[in-house]
Amino acid sequence: MPDYVQLARVVCVATGKGGVSKTSLTANAAGLAAAAGHRTLLIDLDPQGDLSDDLGYFNHPALDEGRHLANAMLSGTPLQTVITNVRANLDVIPGGEHLSDVSGALLARQARGRASFDLLAECLAPLAGDYDLIFIDTPPTDDTLQLLALSASRWLLIPTKADTSSIRAIQRIAARVAEARSADHALDILGVVLVGVPTAATRVRSAAEQDIHQLLGDVAPLFDRGIRDSAAVARETRSQGVLVHELAEKVEGAEPFWKSLRSGTTPSQRLPGSAPALADDYVRVTEQILLRIDELENAATGAA
Ligand SMILES: Nc1ncnc2c1ncn2[C@@H]1O[C@H](COP(=O)(O)OP(=O)(O)OP(=O)(O)O)[C@@H](O)[C@H]1O
Ligand SMILES: [Mg+2]
Repeated sequence: MPDYVQLARVVCVATGKGGVSKTSLTANAAGLAAAAGHRTLLIDLDPQGDLSDDLGYFNHPALDEGRHLANAMLSGTPLQTVITNVRANLDVIPGGEHLSDVSGALLARQARGRASFDLLAECLAPLAGDYDLIFIDTPPTDDTLQLLALSASRWLLIPTKADTSSIRAIQRIAARVAEARSADHALDILGVVLVGVPTAATRVRSAAEQDIHQLLGDVAPLFDRGIRDSAAVARETRSQGVLVHELAEKVEGAEPFWKSLRSGTTPSQRLPGSAPALADDYVRVTEQILLRIDELENAATGAA
């Protein structure tokens, strides 16, 4: 059985839908937690390997398209960090195409009656003690990889848009939580983060809140702060390989546009002015993640 005590600080970011900012949230929350001094590990369990765009490690010589992660799971050997210090306090185990082999291999094992969804939990536990926090990014549709991630996690964080199909997708991931949880393995929903909703759209927010409550009852609170829609910032961060707060710092330090206009030069870079506002959303959401983990851990210790 995996050592679940070692896995107490593993957060899985998932929902049963694509394109709802799972990867953006994972990268930015992990990056901010690391910047705040928490030793953080990012695991990319997605064959798309998109985290490399958010963090800009797509040309790193150790980038292995998920080979180490897939091999460790299939051979039952302990995981090791593949890219260390992608930022201060932030290490990565990259994803990529090799992870597609894992689902196939597990399905074959399942047909022979020998499948185990604890593969990631088993090989992550020996490494997990080196970190204060571990985030796992998951693919949108691969049920097997989602179940491997949930089986290795203590907490689930669900990003969602406000539309009904995104809300319905929460039901699918909640069903997987029930599948992954066991008497030995505590797994709880840390919360739901609303993405792509303007901060002023209070009616959209309260409708989404009602829908989520109807689906999940009290088990999954909607975070007070969401992540606003900002396509320009999202595009720019990925093309530069920087996190949103890093882009915001560049925006705040940039030469005002009028200065270059007055001197007749072209500004070296046009940066989206909404980066600081989006960075603030990510800071608040990350704060809520850390606070809620603390609160729930303290409540559990108090109850014991
Ligand atoms: N706050 C935002 N506002 C607007 N667009 C965003 C925002 N955050 C992310 N995006 C963009 O939305 C798209 C999907 O984001 P992301 O890749 O994070 O979602 P995902 O849920 O991980 O997708 P997938 O299911 O494919 O893994 C990307 O093009 C990304 O740049
Ligand atoms: Mg993704």
